[in-house]
Amino acid sequence: MTPAVLLAILCLRLISSSPAPDPVLDAEWQKWKIKYEKTYSLEEEGQKRAVWEQNMKKIKLHNGENGLGKHGFTMEMNAFGDMTIEEFRKLMIEIPIPTVKKENSVQKRQAVNVPNFINWRKRGYVTPVRRQGRCNVCWAFSVAGAIEGQMFQKTGQLIPLSVQNLVDCSRPQGNLGCYLGNTYLALQYVKENGGLESEATYPYEEKEGSCRYHPDNSTASITDFEFVPKNEDALMNAVATLGPIFVAIDARHESFLFYRNGIYHEPNCSSSVVTHAMLLVGYGFVGEESDGRKYWILKNSMGNKWGNRGYMKIAKDQGNHCGIATYALYPRV
Ligand SMILES: *[C@@H]1O[C@H](CO)[C@@H](O)[C@H](O)[C@H]1NC(C)=O
Ligand SMILES: *[C@@H]1O[C@H](CO)[C@@H](O)[C@H](O)[C@H]1NC(C)=O
Repeated sequence: MTPAVLLAILCLRLISSSPAPDPVLDAEWQKWKIKYEKTYSLEEEGQKRAVWEQNMKKIKLHNGENGLGKHGFTMEMNAFGDMTIEEFRKLMIEIPIPTVKKENSVQKRQAVNVPNFINWRKRGYVTPVRRQGRCNVCWAFSVAGAIEGQMFQKTGQLIPLSVQNLVDCSRPQGNLGCYLGNTYLALQYVKENGGLESEATYPYEEKEGSCRYHPDNSTASITDFEFVPKNEDALMNAVATLGPIFVAIDARHESFLFYRNGIYHEPNCSSSVVTHAMLLVGYGFVGEESDGRKYWILKNSMGNKWGNRGYMKIAKDQGNHCGIATYALYPRV
């Protein structure tokens, strides 16, 4: 083979490494890039477009099937459209679940007289949805959220708490900043430290820094924290009687990444491996309670453009779906 022929073949390879874009999607692609302020180099563009197209086609297929009543929830193209599921899963690291001593777990409450619907947002317990961005600290957002709710109950004031304070300062307890953290260790930090600053005095930076906590600026503290027994009845009693609770779910799925609205149900979800921390703020059902579809309401930390303005509903009383009751904790203030 002459060098010229070889070069021609190589070039062909390079060009064909990303499949040709589907011209039908040109306008949507341009609109999406503007909406989410995406700019790519010339080399990147083809590869990103190919990933986006694959995601777009899966989302359209899901929603088409959903229209026929198959799934019970819709998906939508969002800011994560140029991410492959492999890239997303790198952020979804299994959260180690601590073994719990019995005395540290919420006393079994009587399963009577809990309401059919609870939504702590409507009662002023929940701060606006925030966005974790490039730093993988769902654990810190859900810890902040759980303490915010308990502080509101105690003081009547709803104050967004400092996630950055948790990220920077809970390393001695064993947390690893933007890479991986555990709610239980973050709560241990707040308990041992004796306080936590607010978002106003210690704002979120999307990266790890040195610990800059100062007790003069402390706005919240906890006396202890407790684990909720690993079943959905205990979780329902806890959220109904205590307020918003920290939970974690298996979120390693495209259906989660592109979730839009409705009651989430993912056949491939694990109920033992959990990867993403969220804040449980209530529950309810659609239709008749006896045969209706029950759901939990979760607050996420992926911004208010994700899901239903930053929130999701997920199937309740369907065998601990996605591990909703596998790792639940709440702080005492
Ligand atoms: C409290 O927070 C404010 C705002 O970030 C800051 O200017 C001030 O220095 C902090 N106080 C102390 C004692 O660190
Ligand atoms: C479930 O997992 C299998 C195997 O990884 C995969 O082929 C299938 O598409 C997945 N189903 C859904 C709904 O994601």
